Amino acid sequence: MTPTLADAAITVLRTADAVAKARASRHWAAAWRSGAVGEIGRGHPDDRPARPALPALRPPADMPKRRKAGSPASRIALLHALAHIELNAVDLSWDVIARFSDPEHARVPLPRPFFDDWVQVADEEGKHFLCLEARLRTLGSGYGALPAHDGLWQSSQDTAHDLAARLAVVPMVLEARGLDVTPAMIASLRRHGDDPSADILQMIHDDEIGHVAIGKRWFEHVCAHQGREPIGTWQSLVTTYFKGVLKRPFNYRSREAAGFAAAYYDPIAPAARPDRTA
Ligand SMILES: [Fe+2]
Ligand SMILES: [Fe+2]
Repeated sequence: MTPTLADAAITVLRTADAVAKARASRHWAAAWRSGAVGEIGRGHPDDRPARPALPALRPPADMPKRRKAGSPASRIALLHALAHIELNAVDLSWDVIARFSDPEHARVPLPRPFFDDWVQVADEEGKHFLCLEARLRTLGSGYGALPAHDGLWQSSQDTAHDLAARLAVVPMVLEARGLDVTPAMIASLRRHGDDPSADILQMIHDDEIGHVAIGKRWFEHVCAHQGREPIGTWQSLVTTYFKGVLKRPFNYRSREAAGFAAAYYDPIAPAARPDRTA
């Protein structure tokens, strides 16, 4: 029997090996685009996706804070941390597809373009992981060689019951934060002569603009359907479900390129530290 898109999503989520998961993500995205997977179907994903035995997952507080691009070891640590984020992003995109494929759970009508968009995100997250993994191997390491932090799935579990909350937090806070921090990483890698890694991060940054745009588009779709005003709704969902604070400085240019207006996030981000000379 031909699998549904929800079946494909569950298959990816239940694949433990990291490279196999990322490849499966790309495979099923291509199958959806080609029409080999035709129906959306319904899926009920597990609370947590399958993951490889390595890397060891540690509480976020136990992870080193600074990720400078200077030494080869610190570059490997940076690329490893980013690969881990991308592997989570693969699972997060298929989790959205599977979990909200059930109209009773989504509680808003989700047209086919919603699934097209999240399949595209899933495909690109798989590509991002595989590029970083290949780069780690070139540098003599590989995904699983270092510990990784275990905080990333929490926002998925916290928002599993509410599509608006999921979209408010995952693409519109976490992925938007990626837009803010990646340019400095790219500049640092280039300063240290690592153009191949910098080129991968630039490709990821450019794709992630699209992911933020997709998140915002469907967040506003949900709000429109529920008769909620999007900006105030977003601010209240972020205050409820996002455990951190929105950090400045923002990359206004990339956020604007995603159609994500400062009117959403500027009013609820704490002010930058005041100038001590004032
Ligand atoms: Fe990504
Ligand atoms: Fe993304």
